[in-house]
Amino acid sequence: MCGIVGYIGEQEAYPILIKGLHRLEYRGYDSAGVSLINPKGKLSVYKATGKVSALEEKCAAEDLSGTIGIAHTRWATHGEPNAVNAHPHLSGSGNLSLVHNGIIENYKSLRSMLEKKGMSFCSDTDTEVLVQLIEYTQQTYHCDVYTAVQRALKSVVGAYAIALLEKAHPDQLICARKGSPLVIGVGTDARGGKEFYVGSDATPIIEYTNQVVYLKDEEIALMDRKGGLEVVNLSNIKQTPEMHTLQLSLDELEKGGYPHFMLKEIWEQPNALRTCIRGRLQVKDKDVLLSGIQDHKEKFLNARRIIICACGTSWHSALIGKYFIEEAAQIPVEVEYASEFRYRNPVIYPDDVVIAVSQSGETADTLAAIQLAEQKGAFLYGICNVIGSSIARATHSGTYLHVGPEIGVASTKAFTGQVITLCLLGLAIAKEKHTLSDEMFHMLVEELQRIPDKMQWTLEHNKHIDQFAQMFTYCRNFLFLGRGYNYPLALEGALKLKEISYIHAEGYPAAEMKHGPIALVDEEMPVVFIAPKRGMYEKVVSNIQEIKSRKGKIISVVTEGDKTVRNMSDYTFVIPDTRDCFVPLLAVIPLQLLSYYVAVAKGRNVDQPRNLAKSVTVE
Ligand code: M6R
Repeated sequence: MCGIVGYIGEQEAYPILIKGLHRLEYRGYDSAGVSLINPKGKLSVYKATGKVSALEEKCAAEDLSGTIGIAHTRWATHGEPNAVNAHPHLSGSGNLSLVHNGIIENYKSLRSMLEKKGMSFCSDTDTEVLVQLIEYTQQTYHCDVYTAVQRALKSVVGAYAIALLEKAHPDQLICARKGSPLVIGVGTDARGGKEFYVGSDATPIIEYTNQVVYLKDEEIALMDRKGGLEVVNLSNIKQTPEMHTLQLSLDELEKGGYPHFMLKEIWEQPNALRTCIRGRLQVKDKDVLLSGIQDHKEKFLNARRIIICACGTSWHSALIGKYFIEEAAQIPVEVEYASEFRYRNPVIYPDDVVIAVSQSGETADTLAAIQLAEQKGAFLYGICNVIGSSIARATHSGTYLHVGPEIGVASTKAFTGQVITLCLLGLAIAKEKHTLSDEMFHMLVEELQRIPDKMQWTLEHNKHIDQFAQMFTYCRNFLFLGRGYNYPLALEGALKLKEISYIHAEGYPAAEMKHGPIALVDEEMPVVFIAPKRGMYEKVVSNIQEIKSRKGKIISVVTEGDKTVRNMSDYTFVIPDTRDCFVPLLAVIPLQLLSYYVAVAKGRNVDQPRNLAKSVTVE
């Protein structure tokens, strides 16, 4: 949550900062702000409620000169989303300006301590407390601001990624992190000198340099126009920054002609999955190779249990993964909401494998859940999309999705990437454990290879959803029902619809209807059935009948050629036939398109739905 950008170098900072904020807007868009030091040494701060474009309008007539600056796009935690609470925040003297992503948990006690010392506050934020604390520390210990940051952060409880400007030192930019991500880009300016970029992720940086340092927890960096980059930890011990080369292209961050990132990402799925399985699914050799597992084979072969921790959409893909791994590899799998798991006292055995599934790799609850599991001795495996993310680095081994950057807040290609990766993982373990017959293993490998093409077919055959989405804009509620592998998909369909269209939706196992929810059904209730002509087909047909006789509107996802369910339904989406376990990879397509087009028809901000942020780095 919240996006931070910073720059120090030879170029004008403002355009770099604004462009960076646009790239990070998916992380929060309640308010935005920028702070610059101009060539005369004046430190200015401009803020606006709402989106980055509102900030740009506000800044249009201002002096925006300066080759050093920081900027922020906010997802409000402490204090309502107004201009006063927007970042950057100034210290009492106006010498320091700070942007922050995270939550300072002990900000109340710090604030009252500072108030007792005579400091006053303009905002309700924890961030203003932090900048005041740094200034107070600087004044009390008569030290430079770099040292003051180190000292001040020692008394902070919580998570932070910060970037700080000091009016008195316009040649230095300082940043630090704990719990919240921060990347430093190291570029070369026109004269061959160093210039530095700071970002909550690499997206604001890639345009200028592919050389980055991922700041580690409790590290503080000083970027100096002349002296380069220095990193210390909270105990002032020098750290050696590790340089990484970004494998990200600018094209991947653009909409490429689509009206929204979400639609682009929906259509990217066949290719994204091809990349995800490339080299891993070896159809000729009838094998599945996941290096993350190969290197730790014994852990998986001897696992008493697999526990998967995740949130939101990633939790849904984890549930599909559970069904598959249990079926294929015969290992018991538990799927946990990371936010619950981390605050229980879960029983974890040393021979448990704990898997974190996370698109961003930054979700605070998922990160905390695996940290807890590690303390209890479990082996940690990460399934993340963002390379170099905190969860990827905190786990002992793992697999990247390689589906490319996902910018739309509603997760689409990461979901299918996670499902297919969990299937690969189940197959890789099954192969080692001989829990599947050779024939079944080969059949699954071959079918998985066909999924991207079948997905493309599904997209082409469901393009028309835009033509009737309008009809559902009046609906206040939706139900999504499925059985077996399609129950988690029903949950995902409901989540997609509610998060971008704001229509209330629930997902249920179809057979659970009779135990209560069926009371909700009347002629105004659209019920989406995932009803492929596979395993539990007949049972789902009975469930459809039950809803139909209560006058619910039936929308169904059916296997191509199925007339029975088509005839029972008011609207039908087709998918090609596939194995039960892979149906979610295809059936999710019409559900994503339905949510997308309903939201568009309702005039919603599809890529940036209200109150949400792409990566939830606060608990
Ligand atoms: O980055 P993560 O996969 O850890 O994110 C988890 C959830 O926040 C995320 O899936 C969220 O539910 C999406 N908005 C769903 O579309």
